Amino acid sequence: MRRIRIIGIGAGNPEHLTLQAVRALNEVDVFFVPDKGAEKAALRELREEICRRFIERPGYRMVPLRIPQRAPAGSDYRGSVDDWHAELAQAYERLFAEELGESEVGGLLVWGDPALYDSTLRIVEAVRARGFALDYDVVPGISSVQALAAAHRVVLNRIGEPVLITTGRKLVEAGFPEDQGSVVVMLDGEQAFAGIAPEGFDIYWGAYLGAKNEILASGRLSEVAEEIKRLRAEARAANGWIMDAYLLRRRD
Ligand SMILES: C[S@@+](CC[C@H](N)C(=O)[O-])C[C@H]1O[C@@H](n2cnc3c(N)ncnc32)[C@H](O)[C@@H]1O
Repeated sequence: MRRIRIIGIGAGNPEHLTLQAVRALNEVDVFFVPDKGAEKAALRELREEICRRFIERPGYRMVPLRIPQRAPAGSDYRGSVDDWHAELAQAYERLFAEELGESEVGGLLVWGDPALYDSTLRIVEAVRARGFALDYDVVPGISSVQALAAAHRVVLNRIGEPVLITTGRKLVEAGFPEDQGSVVVMLDGEQAFAGIAPEGFDIYWGAYLGAKNEILASGRLSEVAEEIKRLRAEARAANGWIMDAYLLRRRD
């Protein structure tokens, strides 16, 4: 049976790769590499660097995977994501059938950890649900959340307390949840931190975490929000894209 290894590759530093991931990389015959256009070119470069540095076994192949554009979400966010996943599942199935021999191992390199805000597991499950015979396993990776905490030398939760991981979109929609003290925000295209009343909050922010151009800022939200907005805008203009995440915490 065809086999797919879904390998977390860390959040921007090739040295995030675990020994388990290196071993898995060396078992892969065909890597399926998503091509998401300009913004993701830097991410593709990291994947390629990882393969060059850590794969000792010659003869593996790289197969580009064209990612269809997701339709604008409108009012039905879940519906548009479901349609997009179905389209992706078709594209993956076609490629697996065409490019992966019956006894070969395919590899999907996933940014950060596959368990956090990533569709790969859902898509591979959808391919199987379509009746395509496939086995797969998951190798965990260092996520941007861990990279953020390490870069700032912070513990994400207060003693005995929970931590919520959410998106910028949710923070904009619902504000900072009343019943939470520590919230990690990802996928924030809107600088959602700037929309909450800043008094009583600290922020630990990081962009391009783990990469050579990592940027960090932290402090009282009321004092650093403007600086983070400026850093973010400058970095985005300089690089053409940005990936950032942050921890917001109510001060005691
Ligand atoms: C589609 S999610 C993928 C998350 C990934 N699976 C993980 O474990 O980190 C992309 C979001 O992760 C965060 N992210 C990923 N890599 C990052 C990095 N190197 N620096 C800052 N944020 C990052 C950003 O919030 C970005 O919008």
